[in-house]
Amino acid sequence: MRVDGREAPPRGTILDAVLALGISLPHLCKDDNLPPIGACRTCLVEADGRVVAACHTPAEGITEVSTGSPRVVALRTTVLELTRGMHGPRPDIAGGPSSGELWAAYEAHRLAEPPGPRRERSGLDASSPFFAFHEQQCILCGRCVAACQQLQHIGAIGIAGRGTAARVTPGAGATFADSACTACGSCVAACPTHALVPKEGRA
Ligand code: FES
Repeated sequence: MRVDGREAPPRGTILDAVLALGISLPHLCKDDNLPPIGACRTCLVEADGRVVAACHTPAEGITEVSTGSPRVVALRTTVLELTRGMHGPRPDIAGGPSSGELWAAYEAHRLAEPPGPRRERSGLDASSPFFAFHEQQCILCGRCVAACQQLQHIGAIGIAGRGTAARVTPGAGATFADSACTACGSCVAACPTHALVPKEGRA
């Protein structure tokens, strides 16, 4: 298999090969330690002429992968534009922590400026002594939920509701302090937008 003209071993997924070659490709819902979720579509590439999500497409049987063709860059840019409509201002501009993965993806796709109206959510759950959840920054990638459920087998959080009503929650009307959360920190480590952040002195 060749990725952007470079030889790559056809093992694992296309994303594995891309990252092994040191090529930058957004993959906002893929946690290094967990199987792919396939929710965000920010990892789109062109593989043998088809546009596929690199995180859950096996490399085996693929000959040519492009991460930078005009077609696939335009598609990823559209996906990222839609993602930008889901969250609040950049946290480091608004006085919060920077959001590395998400904003690096925007900048790589020349999307540094906010697009306009954003989805409004209720705000802040700071009930845990160890971390805070800034719902405005959440893009519903599901990484925190997967980390809680599949990595830690706790299941303290989930995604409730559909469409514009969908949100990450520890339960209807519940806070993290009310939930089964053990403050293990896996959700905080998994979050690519810093919607979940450690409290000062807890990092
Ligand atoms: Fe592939 Fe999200 S990282 S769909």
